[in-house]
Parts: sequence; structure tokens; C-alpha cells
Amino acid sequence: MFEITRRDGMARMGRFEVHGKVVETPALLPVVNPKICTVPPRELYERFGFKALITNSYIIRGTPALRDRALEVGLHEMLDYPGVIMTDSGTFQSHMYGEVDLKNEEIVQFQKDIGTDIGTVLDIFTEPFWTKEQTAASIEVTLERTEVACAMKGDMLINGVIQGSVYQDLREDCARRMAGMDIDVHPIGGVVPLMEQYRYSELVDVVMSTKRGINHGRPVHLFGAGHPMILALATLMGCDLFDSAGYAKFARDDRMMFIDGTFRLSDMQSLDCDCPACRGCSLDELRRMDKSSRTKTIAEHNLYQITRELALVKRYLREGRLWELAEIRCRAHPALLDALRRLKEHQAQMEEFDPVSRDGAIFYTGPESRGRPAYKRYLDRLARYRAPTDKAALFPDSQGKPYGRAYAEEFDKARKAGYTPVVASPFGPVPAELDEMYPIAQSLFPSIPDSETETESDRLTFQFLSLAGFKEAVPFDRIPEGGTEEYDGDLLRAKAVARHQFGCEAADALFRGEVKLVKSKNTGKIRNVISDGEHVLSMRAGDGLYTLKMEGARRIVSAVPAPYMRVKVMDDAVPFVSDGRNVFAQFVVSCDPGLRPMEETIIVDVDDNPVATGRLFLTPAEMPFMKKGMAVKVRSGSSDD
Ligand code: GUN
Ligand code: ZN
Repeated sequence: MFEITRRDGMARMGRFEVHGKVVETPALLPVVNPKICTVPPRELYERFGFKALITNSYIIRGTPALRDRALEVGLHEMLDYPGVIMTDSGTFQSHMYGEVDLKNEEIVQFQKDIGTDIGTVLDIFTEPFWTKEQTAASIEVTLERTEVACAMKGDMLINGVIQGSVYQDLREDCARRMAGMDIDVHPIGGVVPLMEQYRYSELVDVVMSTKRGINHGRPVHLFGAGHPMILALATLMGCDLFDSAGYAKFARDDRMMFIDGTFRLSDMQSLDCDCPACRGCSLDELRRMDKSSRTKTIAEHNLYQITRELALVKRYLREGRLWELAEIRCRAHPALLDALRRLKEHQAQMEEFDPVSRDGAIFYTGPESRGRPAYKRYLDRLARYRAPTDKAALFPDSQGKPYGRAYAEEFDKARKAGYTPVVASPFGPVPAELDEMYPIAQSLFPSIPDSETETESDRLTFQFLSLAGFKEAVPFDRIPEGGTEEYDGDLLRAKAVARHQFGCEAADALFRGEVKLVKSKNTGKIRNVISDGEHVLSMRAGDGLYTLKMEGARRIVSAVPAPYMRVKVMDDAVPFVSDGRNVFAQFVVSCDPGLRPMEETIIVDVDDNPVATGRLFLTPAEMPFMKKGMAVKVRSGSSDD
């Protein structure tokens, strides 16, 4: 059973429970060659903290001593490993070395017999150079074999490997058909050649197309991905499990993994690594070690590089900053930069999963940052903006934020002259009313802009001026003096943010009749919106967005037809949810497909009566698949009123 506990980008942090043992994801499974055991499994578990590993059932079966022992005492005792053991089926070996004597039923049965936790179907490896016809035909065989394995699996969990070479439609279709089967993990197979050949942009297409068809309630394993340099990007795209054979294979060839690549010991000029394996050891000393000590030291070094990067990926994921880490990592190699640039083509898909707000500021790392969903979402929702006047005053980006503070006098002068201030920001146009809202005020850009961002900002601003219906626009230094128009900047802001966040229809319902704004005495910022005497919204100081109160939820439900902003829950859950308890995935009936993680949402019963408000945790695409875990974090239930 898999449960998502945190999220960022398309990344998930999760708990994967296998036979009473818990694997915290994202996780990397070191590959153990049962004939060699470069680093003993017990050490992998205790010293390095790997709570799951992967080994090869085909090698065990083909080695009489191992085979007999595995059948006699079981795999865990044979390897002396208490964690979760995944076994591969020999697909890779049969593909590489042309073994033909292998049968799916036999290898699945063997995996069961030796007590593997997660077994693997004998899938057919699809090479990137295969024709589409050849790929499609082999997928049919893989799918048939997966059906057979599901029927045989018993207590063993099963990997249903998604194949499809570089054909995105075949990947998506294979994933969708696997999603309908009784498998437990979704490995993405056939990607090793792409990674070996540094074809990372195609890897992005493969992962993203697979993700379109997948069952989001299952962990996704990127088969053969174990280099630390790819972990941040792969996690960002929603891969949960990885495996590395490289740590040991490279060690046997005297190659050391680092975050920016793999280097031959013979080519290295120094060994400036302070990992526990290398500490106190010079390059010469390492070179002079006997082969087996050197292999072990390098293998351990490689494992430390992996564990360190994985820990960092998790930290950034927890902090909601995984985009930044992935962008930084992708600058280590031009092929990875290609991958990051390719990811922008999947911006709309990413946007469905990316939280609408986070605690920290967005850091710009370069023009590729524009590919983040936050950019697209801001611009998409800008279509909801209604300009209060038909004249605009244009301002350049400023380092000071919010813009309203940096340009306090100029904004006031513009308003009095009947001009709406609009800043050409790196996100695109920002009308003054939206300047305190996430991600506009909560972002940091270099003070020396790059021409790509500047050009795009100007283009988007000019496009906006005509789409938003402005009849005239002047640069900020041409605003006429001495204007006397009256305006209520707070009310303009309060309404504009509500439209941006909830849409125009909902905002109209929220700002009905007489509206009173309660402001903070300390900061002067809007705190509460009272409409017709009822408290409908509160504004958060941190991200400048609203939390929805129960009365606000009732108004939206009466004004905007279902399923807008709703998560519908089963009758059984209603008493708990209206008492303020969180909504769990298994109680969700349906969900507005337009909602995004961390977005304000209205929990309704089956008859569309509002029972609580909260913030969405799972995405609409995940909801139907998740069997466990929180779906909506509930803030207040109707029984609080
Ligand atoms: N190991 C690396 N790639 C693959 C794959 O595509 N299938 C299986 N079963 N194992 C793999
Ligand atoms: Zn080291």
C-alpha cells in the first residue's frame, strides 16, 4: 500500500508498506549481485540505511548453490537482509545475452518460492532504436505475461514493467493498460540505453508520457536510474523508486561517481571527497590499494554519493524547493540541460500536480525557470483579471517587493490620474492589485535580467494590455500630474485576488452587497473580508492568498454549478469531516478536475451540501487511485459555525 505524505512539482514523498516493512520514498534500491555482494546486504541496511534492495532472481536460479540455498532458507536469510527485497526477472540478461530458455511462469513462480517481497514479470525490453511496430508487438507480449503474473502472484507484490521505447503514445497506452491490472509497482523499463547515451531529453518524454497513463496510487520505479546526477530531476517528474547497479559496476572498473558525473580513478587529479569511505585517504593511497579493498572503498564512496544526494532531494522536496535543486543539477551536463528544457514542453501536465503555493520564495536560476508550472498558472489565471480603468501605466520590474511598496508614490499618482499600474515582471504583467500574491511577491530574480526573460516579459505585457481591454498605456514617467480620481486600493486588491484565485463567478458571490475589509493593525494588510455582514474570506499574510470560510463556501456552492471547487465525500465521512477531521482518500466520491494541490476546496456531501472547507492535498488525477492517506486537509467543518 502506498501513501503520499508530501509533494512538490510532480514529486511525491511517500510511505510504501510491503509485508509489514515500510520504505520511505523517494528511495533507491542498490542492486546486489548475489554472486559478488561487493557491499554485504547487512551493511547496506545498517550502515547506509537502504531499507530496500534489488537482486536478480534469474542469476540465483541459474547458480545451483544459490538456487538451493534460496529455496531452502529463503532470500532474506540467504542475503542476511531484513529489509524489502525486490527481484528482477532476467529480462535484462535475456535481452543483452540472448538467453532463450527463460519462461515467464517459471521465473515468477521461482520468485514466489524464494520469498521475494516484490517480484518482476519477464517483460520484453524495448530498445530506443526499435521500430514502432516491433515495439507495439512486444508490448502485447509483456502485457499478456503481466496478466499471467498477476494471477499467480499470491502474497508477492508484482512489478508491471511499462515499456514502449521512445514512442510516447505507446508508453502512455502501455501504462494505462498496466494501470488496469492488479500490479503493485509501476517500473518504467527500457530506459537504460537512453541514460547510457545521455539522451536525457528523451528520458523526460518517456517518463512524462508514462505518467499520463499510470495508476497514481502506485510507486513508480525508474528502472536502472541510480546516478546521483539524475535523482533530483527524476524525482521532480514523479519517480519514487530508483536502483543502482552502477555503484558496484563502476567500482570494479575504478570509476567514481560524483554529483556532476563519473570519473576514472586514472584520470583524476585529486580526491577531494570527505565521504566516510574516502576521508583521510589520498588519491595515491586509493590507487595503491589492492584491487578488492579499492573496489569496496569506491563502491562505498559511490553509495555515499547516492545517499547524500537522495537526502538532499528529500530535504528540498520537504521544503517545496525541488524545482530549484533539479534546475541546479541539470547544469552539470548539457544533456541534462536539454532534459530541463524539454520538461517545459510538459508544463501543462506538471501544472496539474504542482502546489499552488509554498512557504518559501521562488528562486530564479536561469531562463529554464520559466518552464515551471507557477509561471503558466499565473498567466492562465490572469485571464480572470478585470481592469478597473481603461488606461494603464507601465512600470519596469523592481528588486523591491511587493511592487506596491517599491512604487508606493508612483502607483498612487497613477491611480489618481485614472491609470491602473501594471509592472512588466519576469512572470509577465502584474497589475498592482496582484503584487502581494504568490508567486509574485514571493520570488527572487537577479537584478541583471537575461534578455530571454526581458523579451518575454515585454511580449506578455503588451499582449495583456490588449486582452485586458486597456485603451491606452503610458510609461510610468509619463503619468499626468495632479490627478484627483478616488480609488479604494484595498477593495480593488481584495476583489482581484479573489477573481484570480477562485474565478469571476465565485468572486462575485463572495463580494456581494456591502463589503467591509478588516485590516491588520501592524501591517495594514487585508485580514478578513466581510460581505453583507458575513465573514467569507481571510487573507494569509505569507502568500497573500485567501482561505475560504464556511459562509464563503456556501455562497460559491449556490452560485457556481458542481463540480466547481468541490470534493464530494461519502455519507460515512460527513460527520467526521464536518467536525473538522481531514478527508481521507478512500472516502472521496469525486473531485473537481480543475483543482490543484494546496488549493482552497469545498467538501460537499453527495447532495452537494457544503460540509467543510480545506486545502487539497491529492490531485484530482490521484484521488480515484489512492486507497490510503489524506486527500484534503480540512480547516473548518460546518459544525464549527
Ligand atoms: N532493468 C533495467 N531495465 C529493465 C527493464 O526494462 N525491465 C526489467 N525487468 N529490468 C530492467
Ligand atoms: Zn568519497
